[in-house]
Amino acid sequence: MTLIGIVGAGVMGVDVAINCAACGYQVVLMDKSAEVIAKAQLEIPKRLRNYKMLSPAYRELDASQLSSLINFTTDISSLSDCPWVIENVTEDWDTKASVYKQLDQICSDRTYYAVNTSCISITKVAALMQYPEKVIGMHFMNPAPIKRCVEAIRGFHTSEDTIDAAKEFLKSLKKRMVLVNDMPGFVANRLSHLFMNEAAFLVQDNVADAVAIDSIFKEGYGHAMGPLETADLIGLDTVVNSLKILYESFQDPKFRCCPSLQKMVDAGLLGRKSGQGFYSY
Ligand SMILES: NC(=O)c1ccc[n+]([C@@H]2O[C@H](COP(=O)([O-])OP(=O)(O)OC[C@H]3O[C@@H](n4cnc5c(N)ncnc54)[C@H](O)[C@@H]3O)[C@@H](O)[C@H]2O)c1
Repeated sequence: MTLIGIVGAGVMGVDVAINCAACGYQVVLMDKSAEVIAKAQLEIPKRLRNYKMLSPAYRELDASQLSSLINFTTDISSLSDCPWVIENVTEDWDTKASVYKQLDQICSDRTYYAVNTSCISITKVAALMQYPEKVIGMHFMNPAPIKRCVEAIRGFHTSEDTIDAAKEFLKSLKKRMVLVNDMPGFVANRLSHLFMNEAAFLVQDNVADAVAIDSIFKEGYGHAMGPLETADLIGLDTVVNSLKILYESFQDPKFRCCPSLQKMVDAGLLGRKSGQGFYSY
């Protein structure tokens, strides 16, 4: 059975692990924190219950069977034999760079690297590696087990072979790949972070509350979720980190982070993952 390596067991890593195991892959789920790994083991049955309600594809799956396909570890060297490593660590350059430097030592020229990032340049990540042509952006949408579309990002070095392999791999996960070129934020987050940030400014400026803003988006524009519900789902810390990367990358004030959004993160209000953001959970 093919072994898929997943680095980072936070919001995205756990969901990507569920998705891979549900499609018949054996998974190694690695995080630097033993506490996070212990939490991930408990999270899987909870999240699966939710996905069973949202998608018929998950209805027949048994939580213990699914968990038995996932090996949980804090040891990055367990990823050495994986043909694909999907990296989902914190949206911070230094953190990602240290992980890729370790992977470069551990893995061989047979490994493809999927960078699941909101905004960080794929080209910059690939430049750290001996085989930069094997690095591709794979921006899974949240919640990954439910969303069919994956934004794939072609870095400067990404080879056609890697693009073809990514397409095949994503097909096996029942996903449709939309390929775009590399530029921080790509398509999805360069657009969505403007919406989420401006929505936070609207709350700060007391123009409307979160419910009103999200209602206008949903009922007026037909979006499934409003910008502030989306920000809470992503994690407000990840949204703030991504805005900082966009701001630094483009040097464009349109990406300046809303001060009250930063204040929420400083106060520990991170959205769904902490139980409190623009909404309570
Ligand atoms: N949250 C979303 O909706 C979303 C959607 C698509 C992509 N992303 C991207 O996916 C990545 C992960 O996001 P997330 O929301 O899961 O973040 P998160 O904060 O929930 O999880 C990040 C995990 O990385 C782990 N980590 C940090 N340093 C590590 C290291 N050196 N080795 C191993 N593990 C390490 C942390 O312990 C944490 O568990 C980010 O780059 C983010 O931009 C997030």
